[in-house]
Amino acid sequence: MNILVLGSGGREHTFAWKIAQSNQCTNLYVAPGNSGTSAIATNLDLSVTDFKAIKDAVIANDIELVVVGPEDPLVQGVHDFFLEDQDLKNVAVIGPQKAAAELEGSKEFAKEFMMRHNIPTAAYQSFTKDNVEEGYKFLETLNAPYVLKADGLAAGKGVLILNDLDEAKEELSNMLVNAKFGNASAKVVIEEFLDGIELSCFVLTDGKDYKILPTAKDYKRIGEGDTGLNTGGMGAVSPVPFATDEFLSKMENQIVKPTVEGLQKDNLPYVGFIFIGLIKVGDDPKVIEYNVRMGDPETEVVLPRLKTELVTIFKAMANGTLADVAIDIDERAATTIMLVSGGYPEAYEKGKEITGLEKIEDSIVFHAGAKDKDGKVVTSGGRVMAVTSYGDTYQEAIKKSYQNIENLHFDKMYYRKDIGFDL
Ligand code: AMP
Ligand code: GLY
Repeated sequence: MNILVLGSGGREHTFAWKIAQSNQCTNLYVAPGNSGTSAIATNLDLSVTDFKAIKDAVIANDIELVVVGPEDPLVQGVHDFFLEDQDLKNVAVIGPQKAAAELEGSKEFAKEFMMRHNIPTAAYQSFTKDNVEEGYKFLETLNAPYVLKADGLAAGKGVLILNDLDEAKEELSNMLVNAKFGNASAKVVIEEFLDGIELSCFVLTDGKDYKILPTAKDYKRIGEGDTGLNTGGMGAVSPVPFATDEFLSKMENQIVKPTVEGLQKDNLPYVGFIFIGLIKVGDDPKVIEYNVRMGDPETEVVLPRLKTELVTIFKAMANGTLADVAIDIDERAATTIMLVSGGYPEAYEKGKEITGLEKIEDSIVFHAGAKDKDGKVVTSGGRVMAVTSYGDTYQEAIKKSYQNIENLHFDKMYYRKDIGFDL
């Protein structure tokens, strides 16, 4: 079958890399893709939220399966668009419909879902500009630090954690009254602060049954020792050493099962990935957030550990037969280190030539913000490439990635040298 992957990051290169290994895939397309995907698939120059352009590409290239990488098209209803179109309704789409994508699209929707289905999460209340005074009063009942979350999508920037009550009140007002995050902060969820270590759980579902993929931990801050600004993610490790069997069993029973059952009870069709951001508080998992897609750079360590053909899994998800598929996982650890443009996540330059790719041995380089230009590979984004390695231990895998990175170069290249430091 012909397959289209929507997106252009390291996650989508990893999807393409895995799909390209399957003889069930005849022609593979990635839209818009990057310099990594152009080497193994055909890039199509279109925007992931231009549904009309996607339709034309699907018809022109006889595509039968579409894998949606990022959240934006899902929250905007790309899956519904396919179902409602006579020419597209038989094309399989991996990614939930708009109603369920609200689990990521609206923090309040996600909190209400968790409350309804008894899924452990932080206590919360939500506010709009009409009851901002009540928001201040609610903050006064909490202990520092204070967690403020813009309800809508804010490109990963919509969560503020503040130590000072007056500052928290001021930011609440900035979000609600001054539209700090535009329309995304017209509503704000104020949450109890949870103290613990974070990890990510990835679930595949066809809406009835589910399969759990290996856990991963990502490193979100730009600076070593988890300091400085938040980024999309600077590295990842899988499996997560502190996720013991006992913890994983709690995670499945208290969180994964009620989530998939909750989707059914609420009549929310879901064929896709559920990425559950968890925090381990004491010995117990609590949900920080839902995402309706895979994580990036977590995909760059989770999919390399998946031995089962991804195309087999996607077909089963689309056909509602996921229960019949066995998921085989590589016992080895996988780690990835993200190379970023100097200045990221603030302003940075683009168009820098990347050299040394041919010298990589025993690691896999997934391209992210990188593109082809005049026969060269040049930077085109903040997060540029993810260098993934396997190892019998995560320490061995990390060492391999760092050794290989020595070969790679671009002007102002930066990466964290302490991935895995806290494990
Ligand atoms: P989110 O976008 O909801 O994942 O939040 C971004 C980051 O803020 C998370 O990865 C956590 O590090 C932190 N965070 C969010 N909610 C809480 C909470 N209730 N307690 C502690 N940290 C939180
Ligand atoms: N790495 C976190 C995310 O993809 O949201």
